[in-house]
Amino acid sequence: MAPSMTIGYLNGEFADLASLRIPVLDRGFLFGDAVYEVIPVYQGRPFRSEFHYQRLQRSLAQIHMDAVLDREHWDSLVHDLIERNGGGSMAVYLQISRGAESVRNHLIPKGLAPTVFGMTAALKSRSPEVLERGLQVITREDTRWDRCDIKSTSLLANILLYSEAHEQHAQECLLHREGQLTEGSSSSVFVVRNGRIYAPPYGPEILPGTTRDLVAELCEANGTPVRVGPIDMLELADADEIWLASATRELLPVTRVDGHAVGDGHPGPLWRAIDTRFQEYKQESAND
Ligand code: PDD
Repeated sequence: MAPSMTIGYLNGEFADLASLRIPVLDRGFLFGDAVYEVIPVYQGRPFRSEFHYQRLQRSLAQIHMDAVLDREHWDSLVHDLIERNGGGSMAVYLQISRGAESVRNHLIPKGLAPTVFGMTAALKSRSPEVLERGLQVITREDTRWDRCDIKSTSLLANILLYSEAHEQHAQECLLHREGQLTEGSSSSVFVVRNGRIYAPPYGPEILPGTTRDLVAELCEANGTPVRVGPIDMLELADADEIWLASATRELLPVTRVDGHAVGDGHPGPLWRAIDTRFQEYKQESAND
């Protein structure tokens, strides 16, 4: 880890990450009873942070937790983390667990003080090779629970699927339920066919993606609006382009699915057009 990325936040205190401690009975540790956010930061400025705070608030409400901090306090915490970790580009990670009790207890307790944790991580810049060649993905049955709209830290299925993709020399795992595409193990997905851009409908099975929402805005502005509706896995076979979107990966082209070429096997023209708009948007929001 770069020396400038070592300062974390825990329950009101900023300190070296290696020195921060939570009790072993923290419900985040025992049950994964916690939610999180990952906010990209460009040139020292959090990118579209209001949408991350909104989603965080929604995740908390869905697991019957109170707001914890208001928007202004999240903002000041995030800015503090950025500054203490040297500014520039990075990802801010925020996690709120329900807190620690004195016993292990399945029942959701009332009145527990939540554990609020924050840290930063390096934001890997997109490699020219990936932009030139695109990503490889595998496809698997979506083995996650059916409340994937909550950004929960219980990511066991996600990490198993993601790691399986890497074992197969791929960089992401596209998931499906009953033959319908849901999302990637850590990303949202778009499919392009005959000049039209499609995305699976939001619902309990997928995370409402902040990057996906921005990409949808950029597609609209490009005159190629995203059509939201169920996507059959069979449609991937004759897709012209497939894209992945996430806060840390931005918008990336997929050029191989289960070893088969997508379209002509190269990143497609619509991806290029929308990614160019994405990069412009990023630059403008860092400058204004
Ligand atoms: N993950 N779907 C899943 C399952 C995800 O884990 C993510 C992002 C997304 C994209 O959401 P967003 O555009 O808001 O990042 C979709 C983050 C980056 C992570 O867990 O690190």
